[in-house]
Amino acid sequence: MIDLDDTSAIAKVDPDDFLGDVEAFPDQVREALDIGQGVDLPDLRPPSSVAVLGMGGSGISGDVLGVFLGPRSPVPSATVKGYELPAWVGEDTLVFATSYSGNTEETLTSYEQAVERGASVVAVTTGGELADRAELDGFPVVRIPPGLVPRAAMGYLAVPLIAVLGRIVGESYAAKVEELLPMLDEGSGSLGRKVPASENPAKRLAAKLVARIPFIYGTSGAGEVAAYRWKCQFNECSKVPAHHHSFPELNHNEVVGFKELTELTSSSVALVVLRRAGDHPRNDKRIDITLPLIEDEFALVEKVRSEAKGELASLFDLVYFGDFVATYLAIAQGVDPSPTEIISRVKSALAT
Ligand code: F6R
Repeated sequence: MIDLDDTSAIAKVDPDDFLGDVEAFPDQVREALDIGQGVDLPDLRPPSSVAVLGMGGSGISGDVLGVFLGPRSPVPSATVKGYELPAWVGEDTLVFATSYSGNTEETLTSYEQAVERGASVVAVTTGGELADRAELDGFPVVRIPPGLVPRAAMGYLAVPLIAVLGRIVGESYAAKVEELLPMLDEGSGSLGRKVPASENPAKRLAAKLVARIPFIYGTSGAGEVAAYRWKCQFNECSKVPAHHHSFPELNHNEVVGFKELTELTSSSVALVVLRRAGDHPRNDKRIDITLPLIEDEFALVEKVRSEAKGELASLFDLVYFGDFVATYLAIAQGVDPSPTEIISRVKSALAT
């Protein structure tokens, strides 16, 4: 196992400095706010619904927007992670087409449907086919900086959606993102590479997860999206299988699944439970009842708690901690967190 306090060993395993991108996330959010506030927008009517098109590290931006709007807006929103738009997308829908590369097949396909339905579209991308098509079709393009892997660009991809929607509906949504910055700065300072494992909970959790399969449980809403992000980061950065689920739904199915294969799960599966200060009290009670019933079936059970107030803040808090954990897990295993070779192979094979 690589020593997570050895910064020169980290640099060798992580030649593209993915960890540096994670550490710089608060600055990315600042820049993304400026980009979202500064982009030229035509006169757009407040929408009756919002759809975010995007896959993987880009599509998560729609889930973030959904968490943000959930408690504060009567306008329904959905993330479309596939080729087909739901039937309700129409002229009164605001569609954000998000693709870091601008070349993702599913997003380009659903983008074309949005254009055919007469929706108002805003593209968020570094360029590629999506920027070309949106410009040709006369839609605003939020240009975000290239040079990152998409999953390291969550700030660039998600924050402009919030800022732009705020401008369209006349609400100071950007201020809600600004409020997150002290918390993110704090996270960057306390979880970065220079903070030794003895004082760094992200390094310590990563070390415990080496050679384990992580299961991540959240709570519906922000906790569920955070758990999904953790799972995807374990897959793409740490290159391990991972699973996520959420309370209360898992009480109605998943809890039954630990009766067989106990030898396997208790030696190899690590459960990480994401808790939030804003969790519904019935979910708190569910977690307290459920864990003693299943904890013996895991190799270890860890709890991560966010004290942040509000859905968006707890989401960013948990996601940021998880991004550090997944990156440190990659490095601890001696695995470069940046490349995602199989994703590229599938994309190339589909393109021929
Ligand atoms: C790679 C990654 C992927 C991509 C996805 C879609 O870091 O996170 O999940 O985000 O393959 O590609 P883009 O984001 O270019 O539309």
